[in-house]
Amino acid sequence: MSLIGAATDVREKAHAPYSGFKVGAAIRAASGRIYQGCNVENVSYPEGTCAEAGAISAMVAGGDTVIHEVAVIAGGAEPVAPCGGCRQRLLEFAGPDVTVTMATTGGATRVMRMADLLPGAFDATQMGG
Ligand code: THU
Repeated sequence: MSLIGAATDVREKAHAPYSGFKVGAAIRAASGRIYQGCNVENVSYPEGTCAEAGAISAMVAGGDTVIHEVAVIAGGAEPVAPCGGCRQRLLEFAGPDVTVTMATTGGATRVMRMADLLPGAFDATQMGG
C-alpha cells in the first residue's frame, strides 16, 4: 500500500467530534514497515492528540526509531501542514532530508523536507556546554 493510502485509511478512524477535522498520518520507517495514526480529540480540548503523534507512538511501540518518509492527509482546501509541535516530534526520528507529503482528500499534494518544515530546530547539540 502507498503511504498516502495508509494515511487515507487511518484518517477514517479519527476521533474528531469537536473540530470535525479528521487527519490521518502514515510513517514509513527504516524497517520498511508503515505505521499509522489519526487525531484523537478530547472533551477537555488541550488533551487531544495529533495524527502524527499517534503514528510516532505506533512506530516506537513497533520497534522502529528511524523515519524514512511521512504522509499526512486531511479534508481541507489546502494540503494539511503538521503543527509546530508535531514538526519537533517528527524531527526526533527523521533526518533533514526526510520528506513529508501533505495531502487533501481532494487530491492536492505538497511535499516538503523536514529541514524546510522546521528550520533552526532545537536539537541535542544545544544542550551541550
Ligand atoms: N491535527 C492533526 O492531527 N495533525 C495536523 O497536522 C494538524 C492538526 C488535528 C488536531 C485537531 O484534532 C484537529 O486537527 C484540528 O486542529
